[in-house]
Amino acid sequence: MNMKIGVIKGDGIGPEIVDEAMKVLDRIAEVYGHSLSYTQLLMGGASIDANGVPLTEETLEAARESDAVLMGSIGGDAKTSPWYQLEPSKRPEAGLLALRKGLNLFANLRPAVLYQELKGACPLKEEIADRGFDMMIMRELTGGLYFGERSTREENGVLVARDELTYSETEIRRIAKRGFDIAMKRRKKVTSVDKANVLDSSRLWRKVVEEVAKDYPEVTLEHMLVDNCAMQLVKDPAQFDVILTENMFGDILSDEASMVTGSIGMLASASLNETKFGLYEPSGGSAPDIAGQGIANPIATILSAAMMLKYSFDLDEEAAAIEEAVSAVLKDGYRTIDIMSDGMKQIGTKEMGDRICSYIK
Ligand code: IPM
Ligand code: MG
Repeated sequence: MNMKIGVIKGDGIGPEIVDEAMKVLDRIAEVYGHSLSYTQLLMGGASIDANGVPLTEETLEAARESDAVLMGSIGGDAKTSPWYQLEPSKRPEAGLLALRKGLNLFANLRPAVLYQELKGACPLKEEIADRGFDMMIMRELTGGLYFGERSTREENGVLVARDELTYSETEIRRIAKRGFDIAMKRRKKVTSVDKANVLDSSRLWRKVVEEVAKDYPEVTLEHMLVDNCAMQLVKDPAQFDVILTENMFGDILSDEASMVTGSIGMLASASLNETKFGLYEPSGGSAPDIAGQGIANPIATILSAAMMLKYSFDLDEEAAAIEEAVSAVLKDGYRTIDIMSDGMKQIGTKEMGDRICSYIK
């Protein structure tokens, strides 16, 4: 297969971790006989430095022309970076939101898995960690509060800020279908999360999700209020298979879920549209405090590349080969500093990439 991949290395640790993911993809191509081509694209802070804006029309076009985009992370230290002196619509994060919208990436998949080898890093009680968990957070990514109209105005001498939260049936239906499709390939349970005791948008969400559920009689559907879900994630994470939710709730819950695994450096993500195209990035941020030191954990980005092979190219065997290589490296006791524990062997970003490659045969 010939794969045309757009690459956004981004800011902070982005370039280091993406280099390792590309190394692993190259290894896969070599072993399984595929060909890969990469187009480097700028987005976020790097694009502000080069072009004055976080996302250019050319980058968006080039991303559209590739089969999939592999991304590192964007943004810098909000206190010290000059990017944050700019108005909000010109900062690195605005580039990411515009890229998601421009590519229509409405479905965001964020797996949160407790690796048995890393159980010690789980901040939950031992008996909860022992049960393990493996959930997929499906976050709606191009609607809701983050894309509504906003304004800050003076009204009768006081400042008033407004953010609009809108969802259409169409937007809810397409993400719900994706959620149920994914559940069919997993443990066939969907927990739809909303705030239907307060919000109209949530009541519509619930109604549409129930309609979609009728087409998936094998899948068990339950509804959960978002505040309860936040609690359940630390109380009993094993109960979840697919969590299906709107944009802001998914933003918050996915950070919580990743923290509960104890190793955000391990978590991948995929953002998909109606086609095979997807944007693949680690769940963690750009970690400017450790950038350039060669110590960042590249595994989340490497696992995001595995998701790319699976969802954009239907290369399930190759994706599994990467996942198995990651497990093997962990079993052999190799750790980057963020997941280090007593008795393990600490290695840097590049060595982690090399070791993962060496297990792909
Ligand atoms: C994420 C991030 C972004 C989001 C920010 C940077 C706009 O927090 O991918 O979760 O909220 O979507
Ligand atoms: Mg977030």
